[in-house]
Formats: sequence, C-alpha cells, structure tokens
Amino acid sequence: MTKTIVHVVGTGTIGEPLIGLLLAHKDEFDIDEVTFHKRTPLLTDRSKVFDLLKKGAKLAVDEDRWDSFKELDMEPSYKAEEALAQATAVIDCTPIGNRMKDEQYKNYTDKVKGFIAQGSEFGFGKMYARGINDHALKPGEDQFVQVVSCNTHNLAVLVETIAQISTKKENLVNANFVCLRRSNDISQDESFLPAPTVGAHSNKKFGTHHARDLSHLYKTVGFELDNVFSSAIKLPTQYMHTIHFAIEVHEPLVEAEVLDRIQKNPRLSVTHKTSANAVFSFGRDHGHFGRILNQTVFCLPSFHISEDGKKMTGFCFTPQDGNSLLSSVAAALWFIDPETYHDKLQALSQFFFSEI
Ligand SMILES: NC(=O)c1ccc[n+]([C@@H]2O[C@H](COP(=O)([O-])OP(=O)(O)OC[C@H]3O[C@@H](n4cnc5c(N)ncnc54)[C@H](OP(=O)(O)O)[C@@H]3O)[C@@H](O)[C@H]2O)c1
Repeated sequence: MTKTIVHVVGTGTIGEPLIGLLLAHKDEFDIDEVTFHKRTPLLTDRSKVFDLLKKGAKLAVDEDRWDSFKELDMEPSYKAEEALAQATAVIDCTPIGNRMKDEQYKNYTDKVKGFIAQGSEFGFGKMYARGINDHALKPGEDQFVQVVSCNTHNLAVLVETIAQISTKKENLVNANFVCLRRSNDISQDESFLPAPTVGAHSNKKFGTHHARDLSHLYKTVGFELDNVFSSAIKLPTQYMHTIHFAIEVHEPLVEAEVLDRIQKNPRLSVTHKTSANAVFSFGRDHGHFGRILNQTVFCLPSFHISEDGKKMTGFCFTPQDGNSLLSSVAAALWFIDPETYHDKLQALSQFFFSEI
C-alpha cells in the first residue's frame, strides 16, 4: 500500500513547529511518515534537527550537501528529489515558495497530490484560510494552495464575524486595518528595529498586501471585496502582531450581539488582557510549543461601537504562526482526503481557547 507522507520544506519559524505538530498528531491525522527538507547544514541548527529526528521525522537534503550534513552528525534519509517524489502533500515553509514551484514542484505534479506555500508567496495557488473559504477548494482541480499570511487570517475572521459577509454580501460599508507588526520573531536574530517604522502604501487600491490578500481570499468564493484597506507599521517588539480595526456596516448592531457572535466563533478567542506579552505568555504555557491556533485574540476592553451601531472599532492580537500552522495542516489533510480532513483536524481542538 502507498504510504501517506507529508513533506515539509524549510525548518524556520513556520517549518519547525509545523513538523512538530504533524509528528505529535501523526496517528490522528493518519499520516505514515513526516519528512522535512533542510537547506543549510548548520552547527547551530543541528539541535533542532536532532530533536525532530528523535521524534520520528526523516531528514531530506540536497545531494551536494549530503556529506556536509553527515559531517555534522545529522543523518539524512532522502535526497531532496526522492522526498518530493514520494510525498503525498508538500508544505513549503520558505520565503521562496514561488521559486520552488517553478524550479522543482512543477516536476512532481503527477506524483504529489498537492503543494502548499505560505503568506509571502502571492500567486502560488488558490488562497486559503481555514474556516473562511474551505468550500473554495475543489478536489481534482486545486493542486497548489497558498495559506494567507497570519494578519490576513485575522482580517478575514474579523470581517466575517462582524459584517457576516458570507451571508450578507452587501452589509460591509468599509473596513480599515492597521497592522502593528512585531519587527522579528523570538526565533530570529535579524531584522530587529530600534524604533517604530512605517510601511509604504505600495498598493494603490488596498494600501498594503494584507487587505489585498483579504480581497483575493474572498474572490475564491465569488466575492468582490473592494472596500477594505490596510496599513502596516513595524514596532520594536518580538511579541505578537496587533491589529487595529475600524469596520462599518449597513445593518446596525448592538454591542451584546457582536460580542455574542465573537464568543461563539471558535476561531476567535477573547481576552481581557491588554498587552501582547500577556497573551503571548498564555500561549507559551498552554499552546502547542507556545502557539495557540485561534485565528485572532479579540481584546474585549478595546472594543467600541458607535451610537448608531454601525461602526465597530478595536484591537486584536494575531497568533502569528498559529493560524498559518492550522491552515497549513488543514490544507495538507484536505489534499490527503477531502472527506475526512475536517474530522482529523479535531485532534487540534485542545489548542483553541475561547478565552485567554
Ligand atoms: N514567521 C512568521 O510568524 C510567519 C507567519 C505566517 C507566515 N509566514 C510565512 O512563512 C514563510 C516562511 O517564513 P519563516 O518566518 O518561517 O522564515 P524563516 O524562519 O526565515 O525560515 C525560512 C526557512 O526556509 C528555508 N529556505 C530554503 N531556501 C531558502 C532561501 N533561498 N532563502 C531563505 N530561506 C530558505 C530556510 O532553510 P535553512 O535554514 O536550512 O537555510 C529556513 O528553514 C514565509 O512565506 C512567511 O511569509 C511566517
């Protein structure tokens, strides 16, 4: 019988916890083997490779680097091409997913059921965020899927929950978002900033890529979401991103109704905490390697609704890699079997929190 193999390319901020998540739930996910590709043989990185191998993953490396990995006592099992050729689903976790598609993945479309890339890789394939556009994925048709960025997940779940646009298409007047981004991740040494640094509004229509991607995400389910706009600023912190939102709707709402919807949607978590570090710290103690898998953490004390009930303003915290990890696993399980992926994903329910 053919083995079900998930192959992860890249072992960085997204790749490393993703491999761990797949290994920890291999049986519930019905996966026979988890393989991963590491590009650079680094002494400083070998501890994570050792641990992933100990947990049952198999290492794949480029042929010309095979000996360098062995010299550092990292034992490869497969050459990069072998790992791709035998994979059922491939999850790219590099910042070069589009390049990988052109140079490598396109050669394996007859063998691999599907390929998934991450937020920076616009154009890789059909955009996807778990729970927002699952019904846009078409078996036998979609073979390349791009998991949208962590902040786009957050924007999507906000627009969906507050404006209910899936069922009330015309309800959204407009939505404005400011993405207050951490400058780098705690796992990264580079790119820390000494001061707030604003991003350019490089997209004429949507401001930054966050609202553009939100619009494209909804296009996959037949929506023209043109009335959304985003800005971005990087802050000198390594904690979570924070989103400021201002959403205007046609149908007036009362505060209790909005909060009820938010509290009933498992994809959102709520918090009375007002700092990113307090929310982050909760994840560290209760999440999967520090990650919670809710798509956003809605800050209750920051919520404001206008007197006419039509304008909602507030802040959310983005579980940056958590929501991307969830959608990546969901897409891989969907490629393996679209009929069972939803049930299998319930194995992760312990990492969803109604309140933080
Ligand atoms: N960081 C987040 O919180 C976050 C959240 C959501 C989405 N994403 C998305 O996830 C993707 C990966 O981001 P990340 O933060 O995980 O990156 P990262 O920490 O820098 O890791 C990148 C990984 O890609 C591998 N890689 C292979 N070829 C590469 C190349 N030519 N240049 C650079 N790296 C290469 C690296 O391998 P070696 O180390 O072996 O060289 C490394 O394991 C991006 O699309 C990003 O937008 C990130």
